[in-house]
Amino acid sequence: MAILLPGGAGYIGSHTAVELLNAGKEIIIIDNFSNSKPEVIDKIKQITGKDFKFYEVDCLDRQSLEKVFEENDIDAVINFAGFKAVGESVKEPLKYYHNNITGAVVLLQTMQKYGVKKFVFSSSATVYGDRGKEIKYVETMKRGETTNPYGTTKSMIEKILEDVYFADNDWDIALLRYFNPVGAHESGLIGENPQGIPNNLMPYIMKVANKELDHLNIFGNDYKETKDGTGARDFLHVVDLAKGHLKALEKLEKEKSGLYVYNLGTGTPYTVQEMVDTFKRTNNVDVPYEYVGRRAGDLPIFYADSTKAKKELDWTAEKTLEDMCKDSWNYIKQMEKNKGE
Ligand code: UFG
Repeated sequence: MAILLPGGAGYIGSHTAVELLNAGKEIIIIDNFSNSKPEVIDKIKQITGKDFKFYEVDCLDRQSLEKVFEENDIDAVINFAGFKAVGESVKEPLKYYHNNITGAVVLLQTMQKYGVKKFVFSSSATVYGDRGKEIKYVETMKRGETTNPYGTTKSMIEKILEDVYFADNDWDIALLRYFNPVGAHESGLIGENPQGIPNNLMPYIMKVANKELDHLNIFGNDYKETKDGTGARDFLHVVDLAKGHLKALEKLEKEKSGLYVYNLGTGTPYTVQEMVDTFKRTNNVDVPYEYVGRRAGDLPIFYADSTKAKKELDWTAEKTLEDMCKDSWNYIKQMEKNKGE
């Protein structure tokens, strides 16, 4: 029985593939490489020393997707396929709704057709919306008003999955709400390397440290809600996050059916300033920065109440802020080395 990973060549998917293979699971990756590279497939094999099937398939291509289900004995699906750039989603909402929502619906319909009912979904803390003074997010809170189409696709897919489960209680579904994943595999072989100018903090820091960009803009240093005035987030190491998927899958394997929601975060917020200072200190590199105005749509601070995942999945994030900074830098250095060879 295999676990299908749509989007498994991407940042979080590739790290999860490694953890599943290391745990002895059989996996199949499908990806259309819209935001990833074919080399990642080989890197996953290199890290784990294990082989698996790969198909270049888009989740919107129903026929090709059905062929994958036809040819394999699939037990569960962990869906990583989706566009994720917040700013782009504001400019091109239909692209996001079509790819993320329609892609998920086609995937779920295909699963239904082939009687596969275990599904783990990559959701996001963004589904909580702006909660004002409530900055620690717990799963019992209702989803809030999302602030961009990307976030809305996550919220809508959660709702779709609730409806699917309501209509047929045989489904076994886990919604994983990620906080802020950063870092890379300690081998330096896989990680996050967005094309062009990054939107997110850690990839931006990495490019500044590597002198591809001349300085970091810190968006706001006057937030009253945080200890040093810069924004604060629940940054978690991508390898910890990947292990959370393994735990969620094991939960679904144990339960016959159900709908489960888990926050995956460390439970501790760190500020942008702390992240920059830690990156500089840990890696002994310079990261020039300047304070600029707040970024539209940013919340001052939010972080996970991570007690439910600990209690029900026996999962906690173990890696430190230093690990996140060290592994991110190691990934960049490895890439530079490979380029030079
Ligand atoms: N920041 C800067 N400078 C930058 C980039 C970011 O100061 O160049 C700051 C932001 O203002 C914010 C913090 O760093 O205070 C984190 O910003 P990110 O863009 O890295 O992450 P966000 O919290 O904005 O968004 C992330 C994911 C989204 C997800 C959201 C909620 O990118 O996909 O968390 O979970 F929806």
